Parts: sequence; structure tokens; C-alpha cells
Amino acid sequence: MIADQIKAVIRDIPDFPKPGIIFKDITPILKEPKLCEDIVDAFIGQLQGTRVDVVAGVESRGFLFGLTLANKLGVPFVPVRKAGKLPYSVKQKVYELEYGSATIELHTDAFEPGQHVLIHDDLLATGGTVTAASELIHEMGGVVAGYSFVVGLNFLNGKEKITPVSDNIIVLAE
Ligand code: PRP
Ligand code: MG
Repeated sequence: MIADQIKAVIRDIPDFPKPGIIFKDITPILKEPKLCEDIVDAFIGQLQGTRVDVVAGVESRGFLFGLTLANKLGVPFVPVRKAGKLPYSVKQKVYELEYGSATIELHTDAFEPGQHVLIHDDLLATGGTVTAASELIHEMGGVVAGYSFVVGLNFLNGKEKITPVSDNIIVLAE
């Protein structure tokens, strides 16, 4: 099973980046080309029947599989970036964090109104980042086709947070 393979390879790093946080390090996956390919194929399998016109990958770890997934689906990839990184005209979304706020941006020509946009990220934690991305896509006239994650942290209930926006949530390992 792909979930078991992913779980066997990712590693827990205690107290990173702050004391009390157990960081899920996905970088060992990237050293295994066959597993990387299987991950993208698993996404494609679970996306059967879902219309995806564009894949939006969330900076930075959402770029890792997001581009490959888009390439294999034969659709454009667009980066959702932190503020001040995208060079062309942008639309932005400010969202709340536990302490303070963060801003994400998309190029204004990332997709056409009415297109179905799949949001991809490596990891679902609280769901705050992808919820902000989905609101931004909605404000730009896109339709959120769903979400795809390599790993999900169930105890943070991220799925419940994003379910009202779209219930098409793919999590390969949780
Ligand atoms: C991590 C992870 C997700 C997000 C999940 O990214 O890669 O993008 O946090 O958290 P959430 O569900 O609570 O929003 P991080 O901000 O660490 O940045 P990085 O991807 O650039 O390493
Ligand atoms: Mg991230």
C-alpha cells in the first residue's frame, strides 16, 4: 500500500522548528524515484472522474509533487507563493495563523474564470494554508476541484476545516 510505503519513509523530527512540534520530514521520499512516481500515480488514480484543468501547488513543498502531477495529468501548473515572490501582477489573500498572519499570492493569469483548480500540498495540518488558497481561487473565479496531499495529520482536524469548501480531499497517508 502506498500509505504504508510513505509512512515507512518519512521521519519525525522532534522540536523542529520549535519546541513541542514534531516535524514530518518528507525529504527521504524524494530520494526514492520509484516511490515518487507511485505517489503521483496514486493521485492520478484517485482523481479519476474529477475534472482538473489546472494544478495549484502551494509554496514550497507543494511544488515538489504538484508540477509532476500537473505534467502527468497534461494540465498547467501554477505556483501559490508567499507574498512578494511572484513577478507578474498578483492577487493576494491574507489569512490568520496561530500567531499573526500570512499572505499568499497567485498570478492574475494563473487560470481562466470557470476553470477547475486542484490544490496540491505535501502536508495537511490545520488546513489553514489550503483554505486560504481555495478562497483566493474562488475570488479569482475558479472552481476548487479538490485537494491532494501526500501526508495528513488527522489529530489537527484539517479535513473538517476544508470540507465546507470542497469535500474532494485526497490524502495518501494519514
Ligand atoms: C507546511 C506544509 C503545508 C502547511 C500545512 O508548510 O508544507 O504547506 O505547512 O499547514 P496547515 O495545514 O496548518 O496550513 P510550511 O509553512 O512549513 O512551508 P514550506 O512548505 O515552505 O516548508
Ligand atoms: Mg508548505
